[in-house]
Amino acid sequence: MNNFVFQNPTKLIFGKGEIKRLSKLIDKDKKILMTYGGGSIKRNGVYEQVMQALEGYDIVEFSGIEANPDYSTLMKAVDICKTQNIDFILAVGGGSIIDGTKFIATAAKFEGEDAWDILRKKAKNLPIPIDFATVLTLPATASEMNNGGVISRRDRCEKFSFHNPAGFPKFSILDPTVVLSLPEKQISNGIVDIYAHTLEQYLTTCLDTKVMDRWAEGLLLTLIEEAPKLLKPNPSYESCANFMLTATMGLNGFISMGVDEDWATHMIGHELTALCGLDHGETLAIVHPGVMSVMRKEKHGKLLQYARRVWNITIENEEQAIDEAIERTENFFRSIGKKTRLSEYGIGNDVIDTIVQRFTDRGWAVGEHGIVTPEKTRLILEKVL
Ligand code: NZQ
Ligand code: ZN
Repeated sequence: MNNFVFQNPTKLIFGKGEIKRLSKLIDKDKKILMTYGGGSIKRNGVYEQVMQALEGYDIVEFSGIEANPDYSTLMKAVDICKTQNIDFILAVGGGSIIDGTKFIATAAKFEGEDAWDILRKKAKNLPIPIDFATVLTLPATASEMNNGGVISRRDRCEKFSFHNPAGFPKFSILDPTVVLSLPEKQISNGIVDIYAHTLEQYLTTCLDTKVMDRWAEGLLLTLIEEAPKLLKPNPSYESCANFMLTATMGLNGFISMGVDEDWATHMIGHELTALCGLDHGETLAIVHPGVMSVMRKEKHGKLLQYARRVWNITIENEEQAIDEAIERTENFFRSIGKKTRLSEYGIGNDVIDTIVQRFTDRGWAVGEHGIVTPEKTRLILEKVL
């Protein structure tokens, strides 16, 4: 097991009807910026619950943050924070709203010349952000309990992540009933995202990390069991609750203690979103089986453990067992309605060339210990063409 430091200060408030607690969690004298997206919260009653809970508070609303939040939109909110003395931001939405809010909260305090440096140049010594918290409406990213964010810049077809060590939400309210208004596509995007987060921290090096491995396997098995139930109309409260907690536990630091992490699938996936407009979950369903396949030698031990413990594959021949596990993973993604090939989206070799060129220019070798070189990236993408 690797050495590690673990700290996660986000307070979780979980369960049906818990949005009403907001007034106990935010001081009355705060000037709040409430951030949200394109309006789903107005259709499913979440907006009303938040407004009722915060009656009498001084709230400025900032709506219209898009899926894959855009730098230019977020900079407008940064301006509001600076000119209107905002001292608390409440994000109400999915990963895009929460990531966007993390960026706004950090950029509003950033003293560098260009806030884009937070992303592209991975500026060091990021400031303590404006305090922020979340009301989650989409289980997927775990942004509600981590300090990372991913921001897009459509004018340059770019998408980059950042981490602010001081940038965890103060609290997050997780009411599983929000799942009921999610379109099927967003539920399956969420399932793939959580599955991929878990694999990124699990399918790496064998380091005898028994606790983290079994937590990760528990998350994967929960997703495989709950997915068909979640995709039927009106899933039960228990299914929604299990889905929501699986999402948070997938990327809040618990399963990454002492393990090597991969993240190649995500890095390649971000390029597919930036260049071709695919949803985050859609990119992962294509790329992950490719990574498993091309990196099978380096990941042999964990792939075999995954085959045996998650898919219960007993075939004695190890290579055949791994083949079967990769196939079942792809079939699982397809069973929940995801495409798993680039060509199904009309994406061809020109995009592969662009991604490989970008990784080469940036000097990026991704994956655990940099094992996914630009050349491996090409092989991965060609495998899933
Ligand atoms: O904008 P509105 O109208 O709210 O609609 C949203 C949006 O269109 C809708 N939605 C959200 N909750 C809903 C709902 N519709 C009906 N009922 C509800 N309860 O869903 C659409 C997608 O929302 P979005 O927030 O974009 O989805 P998600 O949570 O999947 O977030 C994706 C973003 O998070 C980043 C991704 O790269 C992507 O930009 N990620 C963030 C991570 C992190 N911070 O740790 C890690 C992830 O790997 C990921 O990269
Ligand atoms: Zn993800």
